[in-house]
Amino acid sequence: MRICAYIAASVNGLITRGDDDTEFVADEDWERFLESAKTFGNLVVGRKTFEAIYNGGQIAKLGKVEVVVATHRPELFRAVKGANFVSGGPARIVEFLSEKGYTKMLLGGGAEIIASFATLGLIDEIVIDFEPWLLGEGKGLFGHPGVDFRLNLLDMRRLSQNEVQLKYEIIKDSSRTKGTSG
Ligand SMILES: NC(=O)c1ccc[n+]([C@@H]2O[C@H](COP(=O)([O-])OP(=O)(O)OC[C@H]3O[C@@H](n4cnc5c(N)ncnc54)[C@H](OP(=O)(O)O)[C@@H]3O)[C@@H](O)[C@H]2O)c1
Repeated sequence: MRICAYIAASVNGLITRGDDDTEFVADEDWERFLESAKTFGNLVVGRKTFEAIYNGGQIAKLGKVEVVVATHRPELFRAVKGANFVSGGPARIVEFLSEKGYTKMLLGGGAEIIASFATLGLIDEIVIDFEPWLLGEGKGLFGHPGVDFRLNLLDMRRLSQNEVQLKYEIIKDSSRTKGTSG
């Protein structure tokens, strides 16, 4: 399974303002993100992100996208339609999507579920849309012990006057090697 994490962040790497405010993420970014999910055919999110995009109405725009929600308590969500609530962590989620025939997976956040995949070395690519903000408080992207990977730049795009998208491949065996410019 090729796993791509796609997230919007402030220039200093925060994905929320404070606990859960994502108002700094431009509407166009949400549209790009939803289009990516449609291209992948699936979207994996943590339970807190699911609640945010369910309440924010983005889930309703996903159409036939297979939405997978990581939670330790899937039994609480039996009545919720339109998403699969999966316990067992990253390995079980990969298995779940593989059984449905997917060979690539879009990981949409938040920080906790991305950290779960990253610390197991399961993420192949990251795409970050940098929003033109510096935020003093919020949830950090990849701010987790065990995350220590060198990156290979695949693409960089100016999305608008003030937004930049960077796409990187994670070099899997790079942990704690010396930095180089190449
Ligand atoms: N800027 C962006 O692009 C962006 C993207 C995504 C999200 N966000 C924001 O980020 C915030 C949420 O991020 P977050 O880091 O707090 O939470 P999160 O990763 O969305 O969800 C955390 C929850 O996911 C479940 N989970 C995580 N790892 C798991 C594992 N290994 N096994 C089973 N379940 C697991 C747990 O659910 P249970 O507690 O149910 O067990 C955990 O409480 C929201 O405000 C959201 O809007 C921003």
